[in-house]
Amino acid sequence: MNLRTAARGFVAFLLSVPALQGNPYWAVTYPSSNICALSGSTVDIKCNYKYPKGHAVEKKLWFTNINHEPFDLKDDTDYRGRVEYICGEPKCWSYSCTGTCTLRIKDVTQRDSAYYRFRITTNQEGGAYNGVPGVKLSVTDFQVEVVIHSRYHDRVQLKCHSMCDFPGLTYTWYRNGNQHHGMSYWFYINSEYRVSCAVKGSAHLHSPSVYAPETPSVGVTPPGVIKEGSSVSLTCTSEANPVAKYTWTKVTTGHSPGHRIEGQQLSFHPIQSSDSGQYLCKAKNDLGTKSSPFSIDVKYGPKHTFVIPSPPGEIMEGGSVTLSCSSDANPAADYTWFKDNQPLPWEPRRPYTLDSVRSKDRGTYRCQAENQYGYLGSNSVFIDVLYAPKTPSVSVRPPGEIKEGGSVTLSCSSDANPAADYTWFREHGGSVEELGENYTISNITTELGGNYYCEARNAVGLQNSTLMFLNVTATPSSPSSPSSMSTTVAAGTVAVLLATILLVIFLWMRRKRASRKARGQGGRPDTREESPPCPVYDNVSALTNRSASAAQREPIEEQDDPHYASIHISRSKNQEVPCGFAGALVESDHTEQVLYSAINLKRPKAVPE
Ligand SMILES: *[C@@H]1O[C@H](CO)[C@@H](O)[C@H](O)[C@H]1NC(C)=O
Ligand SMILES: *[C@@H]1O[C@H](CO)[C@@H](O)[C@H](O)[C@H]1NC(C)=O
Ligand SMILES: *[C@@H]1O[C@H](CO)[C@@H](O)[C@H](O)[C@H]1NC(C)=O
Ligand SMILES: *[C@@H]1O[C@H](CO)[C@@H](O)[C@H](O)[C@H]1NC(C)=O
Repeated sequence: MNLRTAARGFVAFLLSVPALQGNPYWAVTYPSSNICALSGSTVDIKCNYKYPKGHAVEKKLWFTNINHEPFDLKDDTDYRGRVEYICGEPKCWSYSCTGTCTLRIKDVTQRDSAYYRFRITTNQEGGAYNGVPGVKLSVTDFQVEVVIHSRYHDRVQLKCHSMCDFPGLTYTWYRNGNQHHGMSYWFYINSEYRVSCAVKGSAHLHSPSVYAPETPSVGVTPPGVIKEGSSVSLTCTSEANPVAKYTWTKVTTGHSPGHRIEGQQLSFHPIQSSDSGQYLCKAKNDLGTKSSPFSIDVKYGPKHTFVIPSPPGEIMEGGSVTLSCSSDANPAADYTWFKDNQPLPWEPRRPYTLDSVRSKDRGTYRCQAENQYGYLGSNSVFIDVLYAPKTPSVSVRPPGEIKEGGSVTLSCSSDANPAADYTWFREHGGSVEELGENYTISNITTELGGNYYCEARNAVGLQNSTLMFLNVTATPSSPSSPSSMSTTVAAGTVAVLLATILLVIFLWMRRKRASRKARGQGGRPDTREESPPCPVYDNVSALTNRSASAAQREPIEEQDDPHYASIHISRSKNQEVPCGFAGALVESDHTEQVLYSAINLKRPKAVPE
């Protein structure tokens, strides 16, 4: 009895410590304690239970909570309609009874992931048993995926994989939606197929498709025209699974490899004109590569505007010259031409051409390049037009009548580039051939009158002027200048006056001496015979040569003694007593003084040089 009570108490104890695991008559076991399920699928959680013979089963239930009184899943609103117990009739043996009970959960979700426990209750006191810790159910949304299993040069081997590969799970392949048989799938790199797999028999347990990148598209931010100096980003987008990796490359001519930039975006902060060009966006994943070209056309105002003359340098008149305006601009610039800062009417795109250059085309040229993004002026180019002298013009100085003995200057001038050299000619045998633009004829004579012309000559050519007639008026009086003539006349008058006075004195003295002789006084020889002979006529002729007017006015012929004329026209510089005067000087000291003063007075003025 005691034993029984003790045994009972023990049992009760065992039961109340709900783990009756030590008791061989109670047991709950699970064929698998860890179940992985795909969301949406139906899960069966099986258990085997055992209870002592003689007990009558009152309740079998599945529960998840452990801290409180087990709560039947069938009564749980979260599982309502989705759970089902599939339990067989228990069989009894010598000491115990055994049975199975399966929990079926339909359409599992991730929220159903939990530990599931079976509980059996009998009609005996303390007759309850919890099958702890239970079965772990993991529900995953991530259903099936294609994985790259191995790689060959032109293909990859794909395998299907799910997070919880429960035993016996088999897969089906789909290529572009059509079923494809095989354990794995051999994907040829860059082929166009989309490949997926699914759990066999559960078409809804489908993996996402894998495929090579599609042709990438390029987006530009900000959209529209790309202006130099702005910030621009290009974004490459390609659909691909697995997700593509992107590379940007600038396409360069020749063999030099383009600059590579990893990443989906290609950014320019700021963009420059040199960034214009072809770019390649490449999207790559394990199944293939696709690229798209994209060209960047950076717009900018003119830069580096130059005038280029062809041919360069000096242009011969009549030649042609082409001025090209060159400017770096996008879009191409229109040009405006200027000559000496005046705009020239010309087509905006054509080079400025002068087919037959004229002397008036000489000047400074420049151009201005302009497009919708700006304008820029060029350097200036001087176009020098070389031309033969134009018909020279001749002028005469001084103007008016040309008098014999006067001085005349002829001037020749001609428009020429380079400047002309001048030569003077006289028409008909006049071998003047004087060089220089000015030709001065001093002391002109009537014979020098006539037609003159000049020749202007430079490297390009020569040109003669028209004839210039010099009408030299003869002056019958004297070719001497009026001023020197009047001086001579004045000097002559003085000389004549002096000569007359001297003559009068001489004659008076002579008469006086004669009258003395006649009175018989003196007997002295005449000193006049002892004086040297005078070169009277030589001196006179010399004088007439030098000053015709003075000589002519001299009343030499009228004098009865030519010796006296020689006195006042002598050029002799010596202070000696002139010839023929010795007697007179001896005779009178007074006379001597008078004579000397007369000579001194005359000498500097009587000779017109
Ligand atoms: C020629 O005469 C003009 C006017 O007097 C003068 O200006 C010019 O310098 C002269 N030319 C030469 C080469 O002497
Ligand atoms: C001017 O010419 C005349 C005649 O040829 C000559 O007699 C005279 O001495 C000349 N005068 C000068 C200043 O050269
Ligand atoms: C100009 O005159 C020179 C000398 O008389 C002559 O040789 C030449 O042919 C003339 N030139 C012209 C263009 O008339
Ligand atoms: C030269 O001038 C004189 C006086 O003015 C005039 O009588 C004569 O006709 C002129 N000669 C010529 C060839 O022009």
